Amino acid sequence: TGAITIDPGYKNSGSCKSEITFLDGEEGILRYRGYAIEELADKADFLEVSYLIIFGELPTKQQLEQFENDIRKYTLVNEEMKNIIDGFPKTAHPMGVLSSLTSALTAFNPKVVNVENEKEMYEAICKTMGKFLVIATWTYRKMMGYPLNYYDNTKGYVENFMRLMFELPTGPYATNKTVINALDKLFILHADHEQNCSTSTVRIVGSSHAGLFASISAGVSALWGPLHGGANQAVLEMLEQIQKDGGDAQKALARAKDKDDPFRLMGFGHRVYKNFDPRAKIIKKAADEVLAELGVNDPILNIAKQLEEAALVDPYFVDRKLYPNVDFYSGIIYRALGIPTDMFTVLFAIGRLPGWIAQWKEMRVNKEPIGRPRQVYTGYPLRSFVEMDKR
Ligand code: CMC
Repeated sequence: TGAITIDPGYKNSGSCKSEITFLDGEEGILRYRGYAIEELADKADFLEVSYLIIFGELPTKQQLEQFENDIRKYTLVNEEMKNIIDGFPKTAHPMGVLSSLTSALTAFNPKVVNVENEKEMYEAICKTMGKFLVIATWTYRKMMGYPLNYYDNTKGYVENFMRLMFELPTGPYATNKTVINALDKLFILHADHEQNCSTSTVRIVGSSHAGLFASISAGVSALWGPLHGGANQAVLEMLEQIQKDGGDAQKALARAKDKDDPFRLMGFGHRVYKNFDPRAKIIKKAADEVLAELGVNDPILNIAKQLEEAALVDPYFVDRKLYPNVDFYSGIIYRALGIPTDMFTVLFAIGRLPGWIAQWKEMRVNKEPIGRPRQVYTGYPLRSFVEMDKR
């Protein structure tokens, strides 16, 4: 088999060829299907970008309407799913619940398990886009003890997200354009990021020909970790802690630099971006705008800015090319929109869904082989069995 090279964390190994997302870490460039992220965040909406990422081209007006209609057809979630949600304690983390519910969907949608032709592929995609949004918001309703809500076919996808989350039987939920636009932009900025940890997970699980829901459920679990999507929750908890401790950014920096202290500056650093994260740039600006438009004065934003300013001139961070990433400012916007901290990573998952779907589809269409890395064995050579009474 020849010599095996090991590359922990796959820092220098490519796992596939892909036409979906272009990322240049040195230059801070991110493009979906050739379109700059800055332009998409400014001019397109989330479903339009989802279509682009999944199918390869920007949709015509008619294609987009069709896509939205087809997603709507599948926004009802099987009633028995409610029994599964009932079984979770209210204190369960929404990401754990989301991963389980996504996996449970396979039981009710066998066709999504075995996609055999283009038509079934399209249905699986629309089903996933429809049902995942609804169950993602159900994790919040569960946490709050609220009755579960249903998709409103007269409203758009992102608007439905806010309704599904916040509308109560006691009265309709009023939202405004600023909130919907901000969420649209955030979802777009999260929509794909080539072979990151959760996407690689989706591809490797799917490479055994496991179905779309099963693969995405695994992706949700991978995203949950604080070094990946879970960082957005961790950033806000870190900022709150700094605020509680008197708001001293320098003290937090000192801890992050101390190699004996496991504390890391959450929302800083990236495996690929070594200059800046283009998503963070857009989100920082959006955070300023959204807070101003909503009239929110959040002292946490000032702490984040101080921390960023101090880190950007600190030799530790400069030498290691550590810059704010996508998770550094997103939580501040989510907080201003009234979304609880425990739900932040669920929002990341909703945004990343089209990317996971597109990568899974590409992997299946290209008939990629099963993912099966090798290893270099470092354990014992052959040993003789030791009887129980001699151990
Ligand atoms: N705070 C303090 N030191 C850091 C940080 C940080 N946030 N990030 C990296 N370093 C140091 C690290 O200790 C190492 O130092 P040394 O060379 O002295 O040993 C050096 O920088 C290189 O770091 P690494 O861990 O080898 O880099 P990596 O590519 O394996 O990890 C990362 C990338 C994103 C996991 C890491 O930067 C990190 O843990 N950041 C904090 C968590 C975070 O914000 N994650 C979100 C990433 S972006 C969105 C997403 O993927 O969801």
